[in-house]
Amino acid sequence: MSAAEIARRRAFAIISHPDAGKTTLTEKLLLYGGAIQLAGSVTSRKNQRSATSDWMELERQRGISISSTVLQFEYDGCAMNLLDTPGHRDFSEDTYRVLTAVDSVVMVIDAGKGIEPQTRKLFEICRQRGIPIFTFMNKLDRFTKPPLELMDELESVLGIHAYAMNWPLGTGSDFKGVFSRRDQQAHFFERTPGGAYRAPVKVSDLSDQTVRDKMYPETYATVCDEIALVEGAGPSFDEAAIDKGMLTPVFFGSAMNNFGVQMLLDAFVKYGLPPQPKESTIGVIEPTNPAFSGFVFKIQANMDPRHRDRIAFIRIVSGKFEREMSVIIARNGKRIRLNSSHKLFGQERETVDVAWPGDIVGIVGHGDLRVGDTLTDKPGIVYTALPRFAPEVFAYLHSDNTSQFKRFREGLDQLLQEGVVQVLQVRGSLSRSPLLGAVGPLQFDVVQYRLKNEYGADSRMEQTPYTSMRWFDPSLPREVMEATTLPEGTRMVEDDAGRLAVLFDSDWALRYVTEKNPNVRFVTQVV
Ligand code: G4P
Repeated sequence: MSAAEIARRRAFAIISHPDAGKTTLTEKLLLYGGAIQLAGSVTSRKNQRSATSDWMELERQRGISISSTVLQFEYDGCAMNLLDTPGHRDFSEDTYRVLTAVDSVVMVIDAGKGIEPQTRKLFEICRQRGIPIFTFMNKLDRFTKPPLELMDELESVLGIHAYAMNWPLGTGSDFKGVFSRRDQQAHFFERTPGGAYRAPVKVSDLSDQTVRDKMYPETYATVCDEIALVEGAGPSFDEAAIDKGMLTPVFFGSAMNNFGVQMLLDAFVKYGLPPQPKESTIGVIEPTNPAFSGFVFKIQANMDPRHRDRIAFIRIVSGKFEREMSVIIARNGKRIRLNSSHKLFGQERETVDVAWPGDIVGIVGHGDLRVGDTLTDKPGIVYTALPRFAPEVFAYLHSDNTSQFKRFREGLDQLLQEGVVQVLQVRGSLSRSPLLGAVGPLQFDVVQYRLKNEYGADSRMEQTPYTSMRWFDPSLPREVMEATTLPEGTRMVEDDAGRLAVLFDSDWALRYVTEKNPNVRFVTQVV
């Protein structure tokens, strides 16, 4: 029973650069999953960018209830867990950490723009984990870069081999559909109003006269040439390479018009990985291992004013989760009862009685839990700590009101435990205020807002000129790190675990230090 439940689970995330179409695709996936019957027409959201999460934004607009952390829906016998990767203003270390809790990802690319910076950053994390990456080339109904160029970008910019599962029959106003290479069929594109319903799809062979008739002769000839080139020079379909994240299956389509989404979903269900085993201190733990285990990848406190509490999100790795079960926090050996377990659905919470590997459960109220904690009913299982990612924005946080200082410290400690920001000690600095580092600038607003609202502590931010940070490769001897020649404007810092790092004020400074100190290596992640 449990093996079947595990095999039908898929935990995944969508990665993209803002505006590529992640929200639209999410909505269409829900549509196919039957989670919403009718997606509303897409209205302007540009002026609503201040919402705390993309999904909350979607919720507000559509008046539908979807969770802001994980969406669960059924598709073709599979239980899908789609995890949100906050990406607009709320881009943060959490966005990266979410990627440690999924088994595969869908990468959405705006085909008019190609690969953009945020996609690249998120892709890097997925590549390091070696998980399957499915690419959706979106907005084919508009003017796009030439499809061959887009395929080439995946190879040259991201360094991943790409296999086109389907090929566009023209683009922009000339876009007539896609040719599916695996089954040698043409799927014609029909613009349905707002793309709100399942788009009707007719299929036939590419050499079929109906296909030729649909296209201008030049477009047809170009498409035939492109497909011949891809068949001849492109990589072959290799499932094992997809599983390892070395080959990405590429789907051309249009999320807004609901075109190509089903092809993506069908392939995802077929080739996306079920819950994977995970390395622990006592060896690899298989999902079918009867011992319950999981890890906390995100903590969210007080985000919903109606529920002033703290939720720890757990990715289940092995065993069966049951409400009221008693587990051990591996970090301190403390035993806790998971009596307040929830599936979060928008603002509503639904109690979870049973969950399986691949599922995400929200545990409410346990102040003891930290990001990266292992929870298990079998003492001994400890999963490696979640990595810390190099911050990209830096600011001093001052508490000018001495009577509030205690509350300020207490609040800040809580936020540091949640991993909202990182604290850094600057070598030789006389400032009593902590230097904070964050992956996304909104995190500083979150810190100030929460210090004020939850702890009654005012604070003042002071911007700094730093633009990046690199840790020294931990395998380097400390003397080598200490002896690094640094130019004016760069500073040596220590993080809360005593690891040495350097703050740079420009890309030039980073390059300069790397060139001047050939025996020094830097890293952007540490465990
Ligand atoms: P994001 O979550 O990745 O930031 O992207 P989102 O889905 O919000 O989409 C960004 C914009 O791109 C939206 O337009 C959306 O309608 C549009 N879009 C998404 N998929 C497609 C597609 O397949 N074709 C075309 N032509 N457009 C697409 P917007 O102007 O921001 O909002 P709206 O006025 O359309 O609502």
